[in-house]
Amino acid sequence: MKYTSPRGTRDLLPVESAIFRKTINKLLGIFNLFNYQELTTPIFESSGLFERAVGETTDIVEKEMYTFKDKGDRSITLRPEGTASIVRAYLEHLSEFQQQQVAKFTYVGPMFRYERPQTGRYRQFYQLGVEAIGSISPMLDVETMIMGIHALDSLGVKNAEIAINSVGCDVCRPVIKEQLKEFVGSIVGDLCPDCQNRYENNPLRILDCKNPKCQTYFMGMPSMSKALCKECNDHFICVLDQLDENNIQYVVDPNLVRGLDYYTKTVFEIRSMLLGAQNAICGGGRYDNLIAELGGRKTPAFGFAIGLDRLVMVLNQLSLQPATDLDIDVFCIGLENEAQNKVFQIMNVLRKNNIKCEYYFKRNSISDGIKQGLLFKAKFAIILGEEEIENKKITLKDLTTKRQNSYDSIEEVLKVIKG
Ligand code: HAM
Repeated sequence: MKYTSPRGTRDLLPVESAIFRKTINKLLGIFNLFNYQELTTPIFESSGLFERAVGETTDIVEKEMYTFKDKGDRSITLRPEGTASIVRAYLEHLSEFQQQQVAKFTYVGPMFRYERPQTGRYRQFYQLGVEAIGSISPMLDVETMIMGIHALDSLGVKNAEIAINSVGCDVCRPVIKEQLKEFVGSIVGDLCPDCQNRYENNPLRILDCKNPKCQTYFMGMPSMSKALCKECNDHFICVLDQLDENNIQYVVDPNLVRGLDYYTKTVFEIRSMLLGAQNAICGGGRYDNLIAELGGRKTPAFGFAIGLDRLVMVLNQLSLQPATDLDIDVFCIGLENEAQNKVFQIMNVLRKNNIKCEYYFKRNSISDGIKQGLLFKAKFAIILGEEEIENKKITLKDLTTKRQNSYDSIEEVLKVIKG
């Protein structure tokens, strides 16, 4: 029986893993400048958390969650997203952060959604997310979006586009829904069965439909912003003005609602034209009701998540992948027992000097050792053969120029290696 990775998942091989790691580190460095602290939560949670947070009638909860009973008969779900877990942890443990005007957290890891796999869409994918909890100020929306752009910019991704909208609040959402139902009412019979369901249960979700035929019906939809209450409208105008002030390019997308129910007021996506249908590299927005819905005091918040799989696809397309450092510096060959012992001592010194080395475990022959060194793309080989042991010498071979010299001490060898 030959096993392969489950459909919709993939192995991140060493080069890709290194690109992921370096990209994550770079982005965490940027988030640190904005005062975000890392928070790591479990990969699975009680199913109820996501049902409540993401919304019972969203595609994620209705169709995409990996939910199972554990051996204690508890309903468990592999996290489809990170916001719900961060809010759960904030309420469960972080009372000291609750005193702050704003508490900022970042998280990274795999998320799981049972979606139809396609380019840029996986069943296990990776997100780097941020959540800023505690402030209603539109400046928080602006700061967080600036951070998203700053982060992408730091990687060289300059041509991404921000699409932005406001989905209103408890006051104006019913008006928006009514407006939408009125518009869709006459064509509802032509929409897909999912949309017909959404029309009854959660009309805003209609706009999320991935069915291209349905999407064409939504083109002439009345703009949501016309139905916003004064507070939401003022908030939205202020966010747009401040984006202008900060020279951030955006487009207002009046049909942008996002696939999760917790959003209020601002929602946004950062899209790359280099990706196909799945072009959102980052998505997020404000969620002022979620903390209260999960049992806390009413506390406003804003956040986003970057889809790392898609971001790395963009980096690859732009040839902007960070250098991966997988090659080694020195391949160390010692054939006889005495040489082996000596080589191990030399390797200890090399590693203490931050030089990356690998040992020739096969111990067949020096020429085979050199071949192995080349396979590892080593810059140098250290060779201790019979002659070197007898003369108490260390031979260092430059594997690019093929020149070699013998030295009396490891200190001399170190000098050459360090250049
Ligand atoms: P989301 O839009 O569902 O938002 O996901 C954020 C990003 O994750 C997407 O823009 C995309 O890049 C990536 N992504 C989503 N699904 C997949 C998939 N199946 N395969 C590959 N990449 C994917 C959230 O998850 C919210 N929790 C974001 C947020 C944080 N809102 C407020 N705070």
